[in-house]
Amino acid sequence: MENKKTIITYGTYDMLHVGHMNILKRAKELGDYLIVGVTDENYDRSRGKLNVIESTNKRVKAIEALDFVDKVIVEKHKKQKAEDMQKYDVDIFAIGDDWVGAFDYLNEYTHVEYLPRTEGISSTKLRKENFDIIKLGVVGLGRDTQAFIDESEYVSSIKVNRIYADDFLVVKQFTKDNDKIMYGHDNYEEFLDTAIQAVYIDTSLEKHYMLIKKALEAGKHVLCENPLAIDKDELKELLSIAKREKRVLLSALKTAFLPAFNQLLKELNKGIIGDVKEVRATRTSLYREKDYSDEFIAQGATNILSGATSLLVNKVLGKRKSITFFDQEESGYDISNLIVTTHKGGAVGVSTVATGIKSEGDAVISGTKGYIYIPSPWWLTKTFYVRFEDTHKSYTFNYELEGCGLRYMIAEFASLIQRGNRKSKMLTPKDIVGINRVLIDYADSKKEKEKEKES
Ligand code: CTP
Repeated sequence: MENKKTIITYGTYDMLHVGHMNILKRAKELGDYLIVGVTDENYDRSRGKLNVIESTNKRVKAIEALDFVDKVIVEKHKKQKAEDMQKYDVDIFAIGDDWVGAFDYLNEYTHVEYLPRTEGISSTKLRKENFDIIKLGVVGLGRDTQAFIDESEYVSSIKVNRIYADDFLVVKQFTKDNDKIMYGHDNYEEFLDTAIQAVYIDTSLEKHYMLIKKALEAGKHVLCENPLAIDKDELKELLSIAKREKRVLLSALKTAFLPAFNQLLKELNKGIIGDVKEVRATRTSLYREKDYSDEFIAQGATNILSGATSLLVNKVLGKRKSITFFDQEESGYDISNLIVTTHKGGAVGVSTVATGIKSEGDAVISGTKGYIYIPSPWWLTKTFYVRFEDTHKSYTFNYELEGCGLRYMIAEFASLIQRGNRKSKMLTPKDIVGINRVLIDYADSKKEKEKEKES
């Protein structure tokens, strides 16, 4: 067609509704060819839109099915709009008038048109009408409890309203100081007997197994600090109870749910650096400086810190074939551990964790064609660099990370419950077992060593 006028518009289009249909029709009427950019879930989450119900794929398919839409693309990052304007030789950028002024900067590339929005409907409203708010209780008052409560404020589908801890005075003080928490309990059975649908467990790790077991058996969904258990059979049992009770059971490994971390895995799956041959990740923290209790430090560097490094190794290299520990001990617990794993195709994982040594907390994923570098602190993934021998081909991904990162994990936990989906793709039961097993194997290797010493 000669002088074909191309229009472009963008949106999330979650639970496609009449407001979306109207604006898309209005946009099409401005010209001949309508391109719709649907936001990628990682991009949405990185810009603070945490409660989207439908996957990118599902939302793309719904827009593709509209006969007045000519092309659907996926929007992955902030700068993409300007790139698309040039790539598709766009004549008009159209968007609802709730955005007036926000996209004026695009006038440099094309004509920007704000169109009237349909009153009385939005995806937010539909989500509220279709899904009840999940009531959640916090178990134990650990390191991350306050941050968890604060971050949950950003997830509109969840409300933290109760806490449980075994010390009555501590509970009383906490509820007094914290106006968001209405009820405190020092009896676990009573706490579980309330209307909460989910619990977040943040206690010392030897208590995890029993607390998780009781919560699942009481029909609650469980999010628990890593590790879920420190015994192979106990872990197996917990996973099978979750399956039987049709409940979500998730390790609270926040890195697994970060938008940039998930984008990194997507890029790797595309094979951009060829076959991955090595993953190196370091995580160290001098807890003493932060005044943590001796009891906590005595849980050992591997127990406290290896969750994130094992997550990366496990996600990128898959199941391991062998594991070797090079630990350094002080007063009976490990202050550092260099964990070497081997995987399919001879690939190697090297995790370094330490609470008694300080080092650079970065990660490198090396492949046959290039490598990815994640600067410190890599477990709070924001930026990652994709690098090649030919440096001109190298590029960078940069995502926002809101708050301390916990809100992405809380949002995924809530979304699984709302959708009746037991398993998260971001952290599957298989991933959880792989990560948890590192601690279990380490504990076993220590027992072996003790036995050898005795004999
Ligand atoms: N839109 C509209 N009328 C509505 C809702 C949305 O015209 N009642 C338009 C927006 O202005 C935007 C496009 O539809 O141009 C996609 O918006 P999106 O943010 O995906 O939809 P919302 O319903 O506003 O979603 P949310 O409530 O999650 O912000």
